[in-house]
Amino acid sequence: MYKYYMLIIVLHTLCKTALGVQLPKDIKKCHFGDTKCLIVSINDLIKRYPKGIPEIGLPPLDSTRLEDVAILDRPNVGAVWLTFYTRDNVNRGFNNATITHVDGFSRDPTKNIMTIEAHIPSLIHEATYDMLGRYLLFVANTTGKLKSDFQNVQLKLTIKSVLEYRNHKRYLKIYELKPKVELDRWIVWFDNLYRENTDLTIAVNRAFNENWLEFWNGLEPGLMKSFAQCFTGMLNKVFENVAYDDMFLPDVGENE
Ligand SMILES: *[C@@H]1O[C@H](CO)[C@@H](O)[C@H](O)[C@H]1NC(C)=O
Ligand SMILES: *[C@@H]1O[C@H](CO)[C@@H](O)[C@H](O)[C@H]1NC(C)=O
Repeated sequence: MYKYYMLIIVLHTLCKTALGVQLPKDIKKCHFGDTKCLIVSINDLIKRYPKGIPEIGLPPLDSTRLEDVAILDRPNVGAVWLTFYTRDNVNRGFNNATITHVDGFSRDPTKNIMTIEAHIPSLIHEATYDMLGRYLLFVANTTGKLKSDFQNVQLKLTIKSVLEYRNHKRYLKIYELKPKVELDRWIVWFDNLYRENTDLTIAVNRAFNENWLEFWNGLEPGLMKSFAQCFTGMLNKVFENVAYDDMFLPDVGENE
């Protein structure tokens, strides 16, 4: 009896490996390069699965955990330097994203650049931050919680990828992802900025929010790095699990 069970488990495992992980059945597949169909299908997936799809490696979209990132890492020299790290990163709001444009999801996507454009009404980022720095005579050495709200985000991802073969199937792997982000407003609150001085914490937070655009421009390289990390991680996990060909309808009557 025991041997019989083992056999079933082994067969089941082999079968699963050979067939690969599949997208949920309620997600409509499209033909390669059919951008209209893809936009509808991806938006449908986002609406149906706000909690993600663990089987295919899609994390929860309503509360997405991210790796630790260095937003700013200035060398420890001169009168002004600052390092700014965030950890325990959680993003909320990908579940409310609308895909507005896709391009390049062709039969051989390594031959072209792929793009995805999306609109996110509000992307909330919560994290623990570590700030260490000096600005003239002022020394900052703080750890605290921060909460950001990126409002009306227009996101464009430009993606370069390679194809890898496993079990006679083609799997996509992103090797370069460049995000471009435009937004209406960035609201941010740093708790505990000056532990011993609440008034100063409030004043600096207020100054930050009144001049958010300058801070956004100054921090953009670091922020883009963290956005790139976030999207590359999310997408690659799914592409690692589901073969590229299994995401599309089979090409019939078309010879290579
Ligand atoms: C996403 O949309 C839902 C429903 O409209 C809303 O309750 C939720 O607060 C939104 N999430 C974010 C992060 O804005
Ligand atoms: C920052 O503060 C921590 C504890 O409050 C202390 O251990 C550390 O040495 C400080 N670092 C610097 C560079 O002042």
